[in-house]
Amino acid sequence: MALRKDNSVDFVVLGGGIAGMRAAIDLAQGGRVIILTKDDLYESNTEYAQGGIAAALSEDDEVTLHRHDTIQAGDGLCREEAVRVLVEEGPPQIQQLIDWGMRFDRNGTKLAFTREGAHSRSRVLHAHGDSTGSEILRALMAKARTLPNIQLRPHAFVTELIREDGKVCAVNYLESSAPSARTIHAGAVLLATGGLGHVYKETTNPSVACGDGVAMAYRAGALLSDMEFVQFHPTALFVKGAPRFLLSEALRGEGAYLRNLLLERFMPRYHEAAELAPRDVVARAITLEMQKTRAQFVYLDLTGLDADHVQKRFPRIFSTCMKHNIDITTDLVPIRPAAHYAMGGVATDLYGATSLPGLFAAGEVASTGVHGANRLASNSLLEGLVFGARAAAAMLNKQPAAAFPSPPSKPGAAAPAHAASSAPPPAAAPIEKAVELVRGILWEKVAIIRDGKTLTEAVTRLVGLALPEPLPQSRPAHEASNILTVGQLIARCALAREESRGAHYRSDFPLKNSSKPPRHSYVSRDSAPYFD
Ligand code: SIN
Repeated sequence: MALRKDNSVDFVVLGGGIAGMRAAIDLAQGGRVIILTKDDLYESNTEYAQGGIAAALSEDDEVTLHRHDTIQAGDGLCREEAVRVLVEEGPPQIQQLIDWGMRFDRNGTKLAFTREGAHSRSRVLHAHGDSTGSEILRALMAKARTLPNIQLRPHAFVTELIREDGKVCAVNYLESSAPSARTIHAGAVLLATGGLGHVYKETTNPSVACGDGVAMAYRAGALLSDMEFVQFHPTALFVKGAPRFLLSEALRGEGAYLRNLLLERFMPRYHEAAELAPRDVVARAITLEMQKTRAQFVYLDLTGLDADHVQKRFPRIFSTCMKHNIDITTDLVPIRPAAHYAMGGVATDLYGATSLPGLFAAGEVASTGVHGANRLASNSLLEGLVFGARAAAAMLNKQPAAAFPSPPSKPGAAAPAHAASSAPPPAAAPIEKAVELVRGILWEKVAIIRDGKTLTEAVTRLVGLALPEPLPQSRPAHEASNILTVGQLIARCALAREESRGAHYRSDFPLKNSSKPPRHSYVSRDSAPYFD
């Protein structure tokens, strides 16, 4: 493709959440940085993060305990070296954030910590009660605005990574103000595009979270890892017709109970840590209770907590629920799980290097292996901070592409495209309809409890879905294509993993495969899912 050299910088950062902003601040030491965000600058998962950021900073805590809890939650699949980096580099990164003006909540002069599921200590820092991500972004943005080398460009939707001689050297993007795609050349590109919750019909994520980074890296030929591991947050507000607003795990950390429709507190039956069991356990327990009581929801019960404290500690949750006429201090709150976080993504080494020279990834879009099969609560903001800074260090030092395991010598079909079969190509669905179909299929067949039959149906239906060709040059059309690509990848990798582990639960393989050491899955444009 002929490139129009209309722009060139040292570093392009895709995404303005915690990982992208943190990286950009360090990259500014090495040259000109442009941050492209697909929507408003603040429209990211970071902005909406409630619960907080975990770090072993309290007097009764230790990094080894944080490490242990992270590995336990990851259900045998955490990359232990990545976990060590996370828990050891987290505290100094948080101190750096405080030095840049971040205001965490405090008890007097001391930082205030809360407890969340599967943590053995109260180690979750928060801000404005339940607006931690928003305060972090404010502080990072304020710091970035003092650095003349950083340019922020909102409403610039990147459609494609461009490679020359194998190296990622540019991106194409659409701007609402420009009639045709533009190109920016860069010495290195950082993917910090965040999550993929919108591949599912039910999600806590804002609508920008379409898996764009994963899809464009896949199209460019990058290796992806652990795509089958999608975390379902146990407690999303269930009000018909309303978005699935997140009800922070910190509510349970403060003592909220879960009750089924018969008002029974059920979690002690499922796990000794009851409501504070790992997220995958709680999400599955809720699903089973909903099935048992033939209900679409269960209840979160905060009525035993001090009403004043609840209102002050969770002002955003309190006011959002009030808009739906639910007073969380006196009413039982209808909730159910929703897609929340991707443990998998673009495979990286410990410095964000991907399998493609010139391309780095950090934050939710990346798969460092730090979360294993199930992320520990409030480790995601920490990951963005720590690995955002590490990716910047590698980009400044021009670190080469990382090495990853190769596919087996007889790889399966790269992608089970309908074109490879004798069936006629499917008729293209209108874009909005296609998106709704994909999101529905993922929610119905590739969600909290999966099995081979429904996963096979999902793969068949997703592979049989076509979008208009050529794809219109618009953000909705490209988002639809990304959602379809990512949906197919999750379904194919979920079908390939014949065991249950962490957030990936298969009712036809309900146990972990203990005959082999735990293995990560890999997939790329050129190879079917394989394990190593
Ligand atoms: C929450 O507040 O429950 C979300 C935090 C997280 O996903 O770790």
